[in-house]
Amino acid sequence: MTAETSRPSFHFAPRRNWMNDPNGLVLLDGEYHLFFQYNPEGEDWGNMSWGHATSTDLLSWSEHEVALPYTEEEQVFSGSVVADHGNTSGFGGPGATPLVAIYTSVATDARQAQALAYSLDRGMTWSRYEGNPVLDRASTAFRDPKVFRAADRDGRERWVMVAVEAEDRLLLVYSSDDLRRWTFESSFGPYGDEGVVWECPDLFAVPVDDGSPSRWVLVLSTNAVPVPDSASYSFVGRFDGHTFLADDPEHWQPLDHGPDFYAAVSFDNTPAAQRVILGWADNWRYAAEVPTVPWRGMMSLPRQLELESPQVGGGGFRLVQRLPEVTERALPGEPDWSHRSDRLDGRLAFDAGQHYRCRMVWQLGDATAVGAELLAGPGESVLLRFDVRTRELSLDRSAPSRNGFHPSFRESSTVTLAGSSSVLDLDVFVDGCLVEVFADQGAATITMQSFPAPDAGTLVLFAESTGAPAGVSAECFRIP
Ligand code: FRU
Repeated sequence: MTAETSRPSFHFAPRRNWMNDPNGLVLLDGEYHLFFQYNPEGEDWGNMSWGHATSTDLLSWSEHEVALPYTEEEQVFSGSVVADHGNTSGFGGPGATPLVAIYTSVATDARQAQALAYSLDRGMTWSRYEGNPVLDRASTAFRDPKVFRAADRDGRERWVMVAVEAEDRLLLVYSSDDLRRWTFESSFGPYGDEGVVWECPDLFAVPVDDGSPSRWVLVLSTNAVPVPDSASYSFVGRFDGHTFLADDPEHWQPLDHGPDFYAAVSFDNTPAAQRVILGWADNWRYAAEVPTVPWRGMMSLPRQLELESPQVGGGGFRLVQRLPEVTERALPGEPDWSHRSDRLDGRLAFDAGQHYRCRMVWQLGDATAVGAELLAGPGESVLLRFDVRTRELSLDRSAPSRNGFHPSFRESSTVTLAGSSSVLDLDVFVDGCLVEVFADQGAATITMQSFPAPDAGTLVLFAESTGAPAGVSAECFRIP
């Protein structure tokens, strides 16, 4: 009954040791690179370095040597990688596109400044720039640089960096021609609650579903202090290459409605229509205690972003998250079992195991509630339930016995689905100790860890009704 039982099979987790934020996400020559906050020495946070893994489908990953190890002088905190096609940095040789990492160097006196490293062999080995740091504000909370190309007001392309003054709840924008010399452009914030730090910002253009010009989306992660609790948010707005203006800076739209989705950032160097993010599927509240040995921490599934333009009569842009095409293609196409019924009254159980995808389309009829018990075993399950009247979709992990390892881990997350449709679609991924739910065509997601008993592998579909029963069509795919 080792913790290895619950290891994910299609989400990235390091072979061993501690992992937190995704770093340096970049696509190069058909290969997706994932760098990540990593402790090469153990299962707790510390000795922060960048681990490295690659994938061609964002589903199965190969883990490589540590890319940027900590040294006696610095820890390597979060940051980004760019493919410097024009060799603007001068780190590349003739005809070679250097990968340049822009990371937060944390010195022994706790100062946080931005520093560079580069790789000329597609991310396998890295050299630190001898002129580090390149951006230093004499601050102990200036971190998490995300760098991308953007045109200035005159249409001239150059590099832009967003980073945070974490404790001041400020986003800072800088620009540079060569990644070495940076000019301050603007700031955004403070907004929202005091008593949180801002971390891991990203700013990017997202395509709009009706073909109208893409809009800029700012992604921010926030963590409560001193008692941590982590969440990621998005703001839709405009960016003119210098300043980000949110449509409504007081409107914090959660990126995910579960407790376990943090530090999400996007891949650099993907085609403009493909904005793909990955998050750390964990929460600082209990991350140090999750019962997975000899590894700790995993990533979410990749999510490609799109904005749905405002509906007539209501609201602003809606961010939807779907699996990228390349990931969809790598997933099994033939269901291992399926079920179609016009009248599901009661419960229907399958022996699904602990690693699968189940797509369900519910015809709600007169049902009062529909849903699924996931990872069910004697006395336990993770309960996914849609209350038809309130339109609340909830995911509840309070039952499983192994979830008692932390006083606040047993809990339930809820999101209210928009609209009034009589059809509900749910795309549910269960992967050992992680459940990810995409509801309503990706308009709402819930990511939640739960630690199942080794034999908790039953999937139960259920419908509760006082009148005409609900109909369901379900297709489930094992993912070994
Ligand atoms: C976010 C974070 C970042 C920091 C890194 C350190 O989870 O706190 O702000 O760079 O983790 O590991």
